[in-house]
Amino acid sequence: TMRQRFWELGDSKMGDAIAGKNTDTKGGAGGADEQQQARADAKKRAQEEDVVDYKKSAGFAQHMKTDNKDDPSKSATSDFAKHKSIKEQRRYLPVFSVREQLLDVIKENSVTIIVGETGSGKTTQLTQYLMEEGYSNFGMVGCTQPRRVAAMSVARRVSEEVAANTPVPNRTELHSLGGLVGYAIRFEDVTSPQTTIKYMTDGVLLRESLRDPDLNMYSCIVMDEAHERSLNTDVLFGILKKIVSRRSDLKLIVTSATLSADLFSNFFGGAPTFRIPGRTFPVEMFYAKTVQEDYVLAAVKQVLQIHFNSPPGDILVFCTGQEDIEGVCTLVAEKVGSIDGCSPLLVLPMYSQLPADMQAKIFEAAEKGVRKVVVSTNVAETSLTVDGIKYVIDTGFSKVKVYNSKIGMDTLNVTPVSKANAKQRSGRAGRTGPGYAFRLYTDRQFREELLENSVPEIQRTNLSNVVLLLKSLGVDNLLEFDFMSPPPQQTLESSLYQLWVLGALDNTGALTDMGRAMSEFPLDPPLSKMLLFSVSMGCTDELLTIVAMLSVPSVFFRPKDREEESDAAREKFFVPESDHCTLLNVYLRAKQHGFNNDWCTKHFVHSKGMQKAREVRAQLVDLMQQQKIVVKGCGGSWDVVRRTICSAYFYNSCQIKGIGEYVNMLTGIQSCLHPSSALYGLGYTPDFVVYHELISTSKEYMSCVTAVDGQWLAELGPMFFSIKESFATRIAKKSIEAEREARMKAEMDKAQGVMDARKAEK
Ligand code: CDP
Ligand code: MG
Repeated sequence: TMRQRFWELGDSKMGDAIAGKNTDTKGGAGGADEQQQARADAKKRAQEEDVVDYKKSAGFAQHMKTDNKDDPSKSATSDFAKHKSIKEQRRYLPVFSVREQLLDVIKENSVTIIVGETGSGKTTQLTQYLMEEGYSNFGMVGCTQPRRVAAMSVARRVSEEVAANTPVPNRTELHSLGGLVGYAIRFEDVTSPQTTIKYMTDGVLLRESLRDPDLNMYSCIVMDEAHERSLNTDVLFGILKKIVSRRSDLKLIVTSATLSADLFSNFFGGAPTFRIPGRTFPVEMFYAKTVQEDYVLAAVKQVLQIHFNSPPGDILVFCTGQEDIEGVCTLVAEKVGSIDGCSPLLVLPMYSQLPADMQAKIFEAAEKGVRKVVVSTNVAETSLTVDGIKYVIDTGFSKVKVYNSKIGMDTLNVTPVSKANAKQRSGRAGRTGPGYAFRLYTDRQFREELLENSVPEIQRTNLSNVVLLLKSLGVDNLLEFDFMSPPPQQTLESSLYQLWVLGALDNTGALTDMGRAMSEFPLDPPLSKMLLFSVSMGCTDELLTIVAMLSVPSVFFRPKDREEESDAAREKFFVPESDHCTLLNVYLRAKQHGFNNDWCTKHFVHSKGMQKAREVRAQLVDLMQQQKIVVKGCGGSWDVVRRTICSAYFYNSCQIKGIGEYVNMLTGIQSCLHPSSALYGLGYTPDFVVYHELISTSKEYMSCVTAVDGQWLAELGPMFFSIKESFATRIAKKSIEAEREARMKAEMDKAQGVMDARKAEK
């Protein structure tokens, strides 16, 4: 059904058509001969066909116009959503037509794989069907999502759908979000004892399995979006496989938007696969004729071209992350605003850091006669379905977390999508009627450069967190664990090593008391180590605040046009030598002022961010109390605090190399102080620093930096550092290293043997 067609993005004709209009309205200088020629041509055609000049510049636009005369999708679903009741909308979903058969299969099997096109109702309906069928009488119906945004937004929708079963006057607290239907993401639990349908991130369920190894609270678990192969979902697969074999009463449902279902079915010993019949419309495909240098500009051009030339229907643009998305939104809005009499366009961004109320907007239908453009990360690829999309623009890129073994940590890289992603993306245009997909890459790029499927996260990211968790669950030998796709041995080794350095594992790779305590916190290992080390240093009160502040997006507000003013306000909080302590200082000062909104605004601090930090802090305090740890403070002694910070960041410790330039002491990677750092304006630069994160832009920048004493590094991390190494200590260090390596290798070899044996069995 998918026909291919070439289109001419970047071809001078199209770009100039828009630019030409612009110069006309603004009366700017004329362009090149070519431009004028194009404009003249367009004018001529316009006179012939009675359309405005820029409309007819590109071939495909013409094609679309004629092709759409009898378009059955004229009443896009946005109208549908407006006019039909929630109940009617539910009955209209493809999954509704197979409700009974589906429930029969679930009844007969403990594991069921469900495959269905995106938007068929898997995420929103399955949980409700299970509840309606009475499964929730024996426990909660849980549904995992790889993305926080999806968990929150879907829970809200389902809460509304469940409420719709009860007449308005009879509705109670139970019918609002957090009542019958709730969600839980890290540091945010919107559920109550009455909650029967619980949406959550896969990470939350994974942590719950630490407390409740059989997950007895649940009667059913829907592992949604399994095709995404997120790290936590992949680990959950192994854990749930065990649980299912112990608990015959548990219903496990695995959903997938793609055909990777066979893999899941085999993993669960041949579980049945149920297909929800699709209801898709043909999507006509266009590829860029030439390779696009700048996908942001290309996307902007394409949005405008559709808006000017093509019939009504909303547009979905797949972009990478916040920055690019904001860029596309701003440019499109500017362009549209600068053209007189241009029909209105509603431009909406969608990314995970966007406030929830803004996120909710993408599901609302635009006013009549207004075209909606949603510019999103790959969350709209399968996790969220926006109705009424007729045009999809695919930049061909997404942001992917990749473990960089050179610097020993994950970085977010802009990476080409896989063919499977590209297919999902274009498919979003054909949900409610025939649609059009514009790929901002050439068909040769598609065929030759894109991978068939993207690499599962477990095979490309840092595994310290997962390793710690599995060790806490009693999985001593990691390669013996039933991974659907085993992670690379090298990554496992380096994760084991990092945990050993932090004192979470002993020389034999077994969990230490410290490691066990660390696993109680939903934090990255260095942060939980820092918190626990603070107990012996007597500065837990301070470290709780610092860790909470590091766990929320930056609280510093830096509006455009007021950069200097806001920078000056931020500098007032600076604690010399430490960005970590600066964060602590902001919190303490805000607290002094009762976390007052006006105070925050005046000092260019996000009050919502501060609120979030307070909530995170309160939860960390709870976890401390559960571990019977008494929270003590050091009365704000910055040195004690800095020393504690030093204890967790061995991997991120640097020595000075030049002015503002440092080199990592373990990896040799060079990095600089960021101009926003409190250390940047010091009269001198400290010899040793540790940092929280590395940010790669034009250079490698250290983000959140604290100056430390070389002596502290030597004391706290003697396996790495020494001020002046004697022969004896060097020998001792070597033998520790050798012993560690030997033990690690023995474990790996043993595990490899088990794996090989298992493979041979198969
Ligand atoms: O999971 P799947 O892709 O199969 O479909 P779904 O997410 O359950 O979506 C079913 C319907 O619910 C779609 O028409 C969505 O547009 C709608 N929905 C919504 O209106 N608001 C949300 N927050 C989520 C879904
Ligand atoms: Mg879904």
